[in-house]
Amino acid sequence: MKILVVGGGGREHAIIRKLKESRKVDALYCAPGNGGIAKDAECFSVKATDIDGMVALAKQLAVDLVFVAPDDPLVLGMVDVMQAAGFATFGPNKAAAILEGSKAFSKELMKKYHIPTAKYEIFQEADAAISYIREQNQFPTVIKADGLALGKGVIIATNLVEAEQAVKNMMEDKMFGESGSTVVVEEFLTGPEVSVLSFTDGKTVVPMVSSMDHKRALDHDEGLNTGGMGTVAPNPYYTKEMADTCMETIFLPTIQAMQAEGRPFQGCLYFGLMLTPNGPKVIEYNCRFGDPETQVVLPLLETDLVEIMKAISEQKLAELPVVWKDGCAACVVMASGGYPKKYETSLEISGLDDGGQIAGCTVYHAGTKLAEDGKQLLTAGGRVLGVTATAGDLPTALQKAYAGVKTIQWENVHYRHDIGQRALKALQ
Ligand code: AMP
Ligand code: GLY
Repeated sequence: MKILVVGGGGREHAIIRKLKESRKVDALYCAPGNGGIAKDAECFSVKATDIDGMVALAKQLAVDLVFVAPDDPLVLGMVDVMQAAGFATFGPNKAAAILEGSKAFSKELMKKYHIPTAKYEIFQEADAAISYIREQNQFPTVIKADGLALGKGVIIATNLVEAEQAVKNMMEDKMFGESGSTVVVEEFLTGPEVSVLSFTDGKTVVPMVSSMDHKRALDHDEGLNTGGMGTVAPNPYYTKEMADTCMETIFLPTIQAMQAEGRPFQGCLYFGLMLTPNGPKVIEYNCRFGDPETQVVLPLLETDLVEIMKAISEQKLAELPVVWKDGCAACVVMASGGYPKKYETSLEISGLDDGGQIAGCTVYHAGTKLAEDGKQLLTAGGRVLGVTATAGDLPTALQKAYAGVKTIQWENVHYRHDIGQRALKALQ
């Protein structure tokens, strides 16, 4: 098979590395890819959101399958266009990707099908949203832009002034463009968060190993929200009993709801969950593999990913045993100093071998590029590398990942020193 992966971050690198293990894969391509992905797949400089450009590339390469990994091309309907052009695909079509593309849609779906989530109201007018927040007078309160906002469209307001400001920023000043024309105001939930990615063919849902993200930029969960500064898998808060409850009350009902709405979901559905004192509730759905969750989940996958994709496209996922490796994985994200705000790029990265790797770990490249000599790796984004290690237990996986991190350097490098600490506490 010849496979084209759309995207160019750490998640895509993890997908490509897993596909590379399959004996069914003859050639791997990636667009736009990055400096590290270029060591594992041939990269082409087509933007992930350039649907026409991507179809032209798929035709030029005569690929057998297009794997659409990021949220924006999925929500824009790249899968539909690829399928119309005759390509097999991995990822939901536009009608199903709305589960991430519109928080108002996903909240209404959960309400209609009794899937546990935070209580909420939806608003198209700033005044109405503010009156509602005043009436409720419950803080913190959560304000979410309806559409995609690079993971930044969620504001947790601790008082009325902050809440009013958030509503105005989104609805009047259009901080997130049209994504904020509609907002969801919802109840603040508490409890450990768990990410559960799943494979689904629209009928059957197969949860992957659970994981834990670390969204804040600084140690002890301080600083700004980021795309994710590190992950561990499995998530120790997610017990077998919790998994059974989630399957019964959340996973299956969601898949069946999408089927009933005429929007069957095929691909990877990501459940962002909060384990509240009143049971697990959905914080958000993502219509794709998470980043950096994928960097700890896929290394633990034993079954051939190509086999899984085939079973999904034939709607035969129920017949395929999906097997996971025992053990744990930890990923520490190495970022540019200043991220998620302003940061420098094109800095020389030292410590990586010719393949962009180090001994003892797998280095997933998120924001790297090759210098003009075609060899030296340079920084090219906020999140630069995801250093991942697997081991029989979490302390060892973390130790290996941090030992790896210490051998890699560039000017102003920033990473968290406490990835996995909360998980370790839960294990005690
Ligand atoms: P999201 O982009 O929807 O994943 O939200 C970003 C983060 O905001 C989540 O990972 C949670 O930590 C937090 N969050 C979102 N919704 C709520 C809520 N209803 N209650 C408490 N925290 C929330
Ligand atoms: N790590 C969270 C996400 O992929 O949205």
